[in-house]
Amino acid sequence: MTKTALLKIEDKEYPLPIMVGTEGEKAVDTRTLRATSGHVAYDQGYGNTGSCASQITYLDGDNGILRHRGYPIDQLAHHSDYVETAYLVIYGELPNATQRKEFGLLLRKNAAVETQMQKILEGFPTNASPMAMLSAMVSALPAYYPQLATNNFEKDLKGFDQAAAIAISKIRTIVAMIYRYQHGLPYIFPKQELPFCENFLHMMFSEPYQDYMAVPEVAKALNLVLLLHADHEQNCSTSTVRMVGSSASNLFTSISAGICALAGPLHGGANVAVMHMLQSIHDEGDDGSRFIAAAKSGSKSNRLMGFGHAVYRNFDPRARIIGDACDTVLKRLGIDDPLLRIAKHLEEAALRDDYFVSRKLYPNVDFYSGIIMRAIGIPMNMFTTLFAIGRTPGYIANWREVAADPKGRIYRPRQVYFGPPKRDYVPMARRG
Ligand code: ACO
Repeated sequence: MTKTALLKIEDKEYPLPIMVGTEGEKAVDTRTLRATSGHVAYDQGYGNTGSCASQITYLDGDNGILRHRGYPIDQLAHHSDYVETAYLVIYGELPNATQRKEFGLLLRKNAAVETQMQKILEGFPTNASPMAMLSAMVSALPAYYPQLATNNFEKDLKGFDQAAAIAISKIRTIVAMIYRYQHGLPYIFPKQELPFCENFLHMMFSEPYQDYMAVPEVAKALNLVLLLHADHEQNCSTSTVRMVGSSASNLFTSISAGICALAGPLHGGANVAVMHMLQSIHDEGDDGSRFIAAAKSGSKSNRLMGFGHAVYRNFDPRARIIGDACDTVLKRLGIDDPLLRIAKHLEEAALRDDYFVSRKLYPNVDFYSGIIMRAIGIPMNMFTTLFAIGRTPGYIANWREVAADPKGRIYRPRQVYFGPPKRDYVPMARRG
């Protein structure tokens, strides 16, 4: 029997059904509240609102738990790779050998970007934000694949497998093209025979007559970075994808909107902000105490970047995995990065400080991801585009849930209006 919560407003009671998820998390279903009582549920920024029922990712921020389709993130990080995890996130199950092969083939077939699209990229100044270029290129994809992007859920779902492969594979190629364009280098075409991450590194770093051969440690580190970003429940950019998708917008357009949301420094842009912070600590020869003191002022613009999270009140499990990987990867590559030492020192100092402890502020995935990307050879201004490649499976899986839901509604939150009450128009001559 469904349990109910009883909401009493003045002297009237309103029964509201209680939903219980797979892992026992509970929600009060307020959907009928406005119709029955004339009240909306107020929750600025949706911090305590379940905006959807999803089967993709389980996140318990109090206990630092993250699972995709039931599989713990540490098991995936240790045993899986990015492409397999992408399949899992999108299709709900780990692929068998045939499914994995077919998925890989589809990604390889859809790796190249149409020559005409180069013109779109070249319309940008070379110093434009790579995330702005990426979102524009992705929003152009429907023009090249009109049969897969009709803005009609039923039709779009028929071409879903190919559209998903195009999104994953081409977003990676576009990122490499952006890097080459910004550095005045000729584009390098994808190679059919290379695995996903090796192919990306080839398109980034090969020269016309000299192929870049990724050492296994580098390809493995890239795989880990992408895998750890594959999905993360209803974060700002994924919610954006669902929001845009709910208007029956196609997959590419919805992902492009997600990329715009990801670009902000409080979200995916944090990995760049972390590196700026670590670099200036290094340049100034400071021990980080200036940043910690500034972060405690409470000002939004002085926050300790890479610390805190909208839902984790414990260690972000991805931060632990990536922090450990930093040590291993840098050691194997023979890199002694002073920024890693600074990051560790900063983490220790913050975790001893009552301000951070009492607010349960721990390092998040972005605190260490930049250090690994730097070791791989990715320039700092491209970090967030790698986050976007990694997050694409999550965007796709979430878009699909919206598109395939027969009872889905267009996302349309309410508000509580606090502006001026009704007033009459004042002609210009009578305005002060
Ligand atoms: N440095 C200093 N103080 C902080 C930080 C921080 N990084 N993060 C939160 N706080 C403070 C808040 O000011 C607030 O203080 P108060 O209680 O005195 O008012 C308190 O801690 C609680 O804040 P939250 O409600 O937990 O923070 P919120 O949910 O609003 O923001 C966010 C979460 C945006 C991630 C925030 O922690 C932040 O700005 N972190 C730095 C940017 C960052 O690393 N972003 C990446 C997030 S992970 C990702 O997107 C992949």
